[in-house]
Amino acid sequence: MNGRAIFASIVQGMKTPQFIQLHHEDGSQIRTELLKGLQATKAYTSPKYLYDALGSKLFEAITELLEYYPTRTEAAIFLEHAESMVSHIPHGSVLVDLGAGNCQKAARLFKQLHPSRYVAVDISVDFLKEAMTRLQYQHPDLDMVGVGMDFAESLALPNEALEGMAPRVFFYPGSSIGNFTPAEALTFLRAAHTGCGLHEGRSDKSGLLIGVDLVKGTAELEAAYDDALGVTAAFNRNMLLYINRLIGSNFNISDWSHVALYNEEISRIEMHLEAKRDVALRWTGGERSFVKGERIHTENSYKWTTQSFSELLMQAGFAQPVVWTDADGKFAVMWATA
Ligand code: AVJ
Repeated sequence: MNGRAIFASIVQGMKTPQFIQLHHEDGSQIRTELLKGLQATKAYTSPKYLYDALGSKLFEAITELLEYYPTRTEAAIFLEHAESMVSHIPHGSVLVDLGAGNCQKAARLFKQLHPSRYVAVDISVDFLKEAMTRLQYQHPDLDMVGVGMDFAESLALPNEALEGMAPRVFFYPGSSIGNFTPAEALTFLRAAHTGCGLHEGRSDKSGLLIGVDLVKGTAELEAAYDDALGVTAAFNRNMLLYINRLIGSNFNISDWSHVALYNEEISRIEMHLEAKRDVALRWTGGERSFVKGERIHTENSYKWTTQSFSELLMQAGFAQPVVWTDADGKFAVMWATA
């Protein structure tokens, strides 16, 4: 905060966000993980390497593409069913925003849900600082806590962030759950269920509000992940530039093409990078060759049915969810109490 902001907060009695950074992955962990995937017979990388600064901007551009329906469909569901959602989801809760980013999706819920505290979780607390400081001005009385942690690994939130016996609302929009395999998704949902804190005597009003992308025709799905403008191709290929910076490798973008295909048997979009010619990849301390046509698997985006995802939620310990969808059944928002 600058001097004027501090002055304003004292005069107006405005609260100020609190920030907690839990451990950061270090360079050597990142390197080990990347090299393990790149050296595997079927090479793969984690989708988290899609999101350097440029990758995050490219993803934002994706959300505006005609072919990419999830973001706008989810937003429309929230608008259309706001009243019904408010009647099911507790007020005065601790709202825990998983993958908060610019905090905009959660902020739109504030005037309906009136949370007593907003806990924004993202991989890096630095990214949250600006957004939350700005948001505090619009909500001067709201307790706000930013937590920097990789919640894909653990959902053990720091105690300082979750004080009190208010019900907890975990918010996981955007169908990010699709990046997890079904087994990983179940583990994650179990962690969210534990995080609801029933065992601490908290009310069973706590729960999870989640956005889930639904199974649909192959053509529509493949277009959403291989748009005519080539933005998704740029998003995928940009990963190689990020990896070059992380491990000192010599990926050449022009050697690799974007492939997005729907694997119908297991209901997932797969993104790959395919070698256009034989490639000799080198990095600081090692090398590997790829033959023409060989692929690096960069992302999965699993699609669910309302039925299959409801069952997964219940397997994780949640009650049968309330489900809201758009008229075409492209996307679902679900509320499941603990
Ligand atoms: C951010 C994981 C929800 O799977 O649709 C968009 C990422 N990848 N286009 C998705 C993505 C390619 C996106 N999620």
